Parts: sequence; C-alpha cells; structure tokens
Amino acid sequence: MAKHAEIILDGKSYKFPLVEGSEGEIGIDISNLMEETGAVTLDFGYKNTGATKSAITFLDGDKGILRYRGYSIEDLAAKSNFLEVSYLLIFGELPTSEQLDKFSADIKNHTMVHEDIKKILDGFPSTSHPMGVLASLFCAQTAFYPESLDPNRSSELVYLSIIRSLAKMPTFAAWAYKNAVGHPVNYPDNSLNYCSRFLKMMFALPADHYEIDPVVSDALDKLLILHADHEQNCSTSTVRIVGSSKASIYSAISAGINALWGPLHGGANQEVILMLEQIKKDGGDTDKWIAKAKDKNDPFRLMGFGHRVYKNFDPRAKIIKKAADDVLEKLGVNDPTLEIAMKLEEVALRDPYFIERKLYPNVDFYSGIIYRALGIPVDMFTVMFAIGRLPGWIAQWKELRENKEPIGRPRQIYTGQNLREYVPLGKR
Ligand code: MLT
Repeated sequence: MAKHAEIILDGKSYKFPLVEGSEGEIGIDISNLMEETGAVTLDFGYKNTGATKSAITFLDGDKGILRYRGYSIEDLAAKSNFLEVSYLLIFGELPTSEQLDKFSADIKNHTMVHEDIKKILDGFPSTSHPMGVLASLFCAQTAFYPESLDPNRSSELVYLSIIRSLAKMPTFAAWAYKNAVGHPVNYPDNSLNYCSRFLKMMFALPADHYEIDPVVSDALDKLLILHADHEQNCSTSTVRIVGSSKASIYSAISAGINALWGPLHGGANQEVILMLEQIKKDGGDTDKWIAKAKDKNDPFRLMGFGHRVYKNFDPRAKIIKKAADDVLEKLGVNDPTLEIAMKLEEVALRDPYFIERKLYPNVDFYSGIIYRALGIPVDMFTVMFAIGRLPGWIAQWKELRENKEPIGRPRQIYTGQNLREYVPLGKR
C-alpha cells in the first residue's frame, strides 16, 4: 500500500502521510494541510475525521466489534465487573486482586460528599432534570478541590481526582434523584458494592429497610460495563476538547455530562420509553406506529433503532437484549409498555424496511427497557448512562493529558458578509 495520499489542488500535487492503526485502519495525516495548501477540510460532525490516536477502545461498525483495551465487550460483560472494567479502561490493564482491592478501597474512602454540596442541591427545584443537577454538582467539585485546577497537577493528585470522580458520581446521581422526588438524601453505605451502594442511596427510605436485589444489582453492573466507553462519541469528544484546554477534570466531565444529555446522544434511552408510552397511550397499536415510522410524510421516527457507527448491529444491544429477557423473567415484570417494545423489536428484526435501512434495536432501546424494569425512573436513564460512561471519559481525558495533545481548535469555511463599511444609525 502507498505510504501517502495525494491531493491535486489547482493543478499542484500534495502528498500526505498515511497512518495505520493496530487493527489496520488507515488515516491520512493532514496535520500540515492548511500550511501546505492553504485549504482546510470540511467534515460536518467530524464523521470522517480522526481527532486523535487512542489505545483505549476499538470498535468496528461493519463487523459489530467493541473492545476495551483489546478485551471484547462480550468477554467483559460475561466475566468482569464494572469496577474492574473501570480500572482496565483508565490504567490499561486488568488489575491484580491487590490492585483491585486498593482501587475499591480508595473509592470507598471518597463516596461521601462535602455537606455544603447539599446547599447547592437545595437550590434546585424538584422540577430540575437530574442531568442538569448532576452536571452542576460534578463541576462544583472544582470549588471544593481547587488543587484540581492546577494544569500541572502531580500524578498523585490526578489519581485522587480520578478516585473522587468515580466515588462521588453515584452519590451525586442518587442525590439528584432524591431532589426530584422531594425525599431526604441517603449517605453511601460502604459495606455494599458499587452498584448496590448506588441503588440503596437511590431507593432507601428513612422508615423502611431497603433490601438489595442481586438480580437488579448484577443487571445494573452489566449495563454500566456496556456503557463504559465508546471511542470518540459526542460526549467523549466534548470531554477531550475541554480537557485539551487544561481545564480541571471535573469541568471536562461536567461538560461531557451536558453533551450526553442531548436526545440524539445519551438522552435516546429516555426518548425510547417516552415513545413507548406515547404508543401505549394511543392504544398500543404497534402496526399503526410502524406504518407512521415508514411514512416519509409522517414526522414520527422510531427511537432506539439504528446507530451512526454500527452498520449491521450494535454488539452491546445483543448482550443487553439477553440481560433484559433475564431480568424481566427473574423479576416477573409484566409491563404493557415493555410488551409494546417487544412487538416493535420483533417487527424491526424481520421487516425488510428496517433491515434494509439497518434500523435494528440499539443499546438505547434495550437499556431503557431494563432501567424501567429495575425501577429506575425515566428522568434518571441518561444519568445511568453517565455513571457508566464515567470511566471512559476519565480514561480518554487521562490519555489526552499524558500524550500532551494540543488544544483543540477546528477551522471553518466562512460564508458570511464580505468587508463592508459601518453605516451610522440615522442612515440605515
Ligand atoms: C455511545 O455509546 O456513546 C453511543 O452509542 C453514541 C456513539 O458512539 O456515537
């Protein structure tokens, strides 16, 4: 294969080196394009543009492959746990038992949050969406840990900010939920594992004894693994671009939480359930809504189907589908909304219209179903995605800093007015 790509511009030839990834993917290094040619590339949404080199996650959209640090998502979802996968993503290797014990203990030492955080929480009305509260509380850590603002912070401080982020995210998330339902917050019970600790903070009530259901906790752990990283998606790219300015890790991740909130990204799992509720409220006639989805004159589109990267199937969806079936059966959940989901899934997997357009159920379709079966309220679905994606955001932020990558500064093609003289107010 040639070691360069050639661009002919105004009759002049320019050659740009090729870079090859460890899985054989090819990139054209255009780092000097503007300097050599005076031209920039244009790629709305950067769908054809590599922003970095990364050793964290590999995905192949055609083959439906997803690997964290070389381990397949299927292997990790079946054999690992979220804390171990978080360590793998952030530090690059599966931990020894001693390393995992220390990592877990360090996290347990930091699950509490400063009591003054409650003063910030109290400022949010119960109508606040939990994602907005979460992003705010997470960024507020810059006020409680000002040393995190030091762009040249020591590796020890970087480790401490990583531990604080992983430790406090579930606490912030549960407190955002309690604020929405007007209940008193719960403090973290460090005798429990990561997911059980979060579930107890979410659902325990002062008067009642909250019993952890291992089926629920295990299903949540698997869901978090499946959401832990996904290469250079919208929210991860946001974390990277904020991190590239040497802002605090807490600021960068808070920005990622806000990017994830959008309905085209992490908010899609919430949109799936809202769509199912709409169909149920209309009488549950899935054939009618399938026809609406197919009608190009009808604005209705099915949420939770297809993916911008995976062209045939989302490997996470296959794993979650199995988990959804298991959880619904074990919990004996009989929910009409979920029955509508199963009918939509059945049609999408056999109807040529959806098959030809690669509109298969994706990770958001099934995760919304499981979260609902686990009793997670709809407004908290994207918060769950954020808890899962946190180790990926951290790993990508850490890699960017360790590789000393430059500040992100894309260019543009200007389409506005050409030079014109100022016209005084009385003469316009
Ligand atoms: C994700 O996991 O971030 C979503 O699938 C979106 C994406 O990768 O673009």
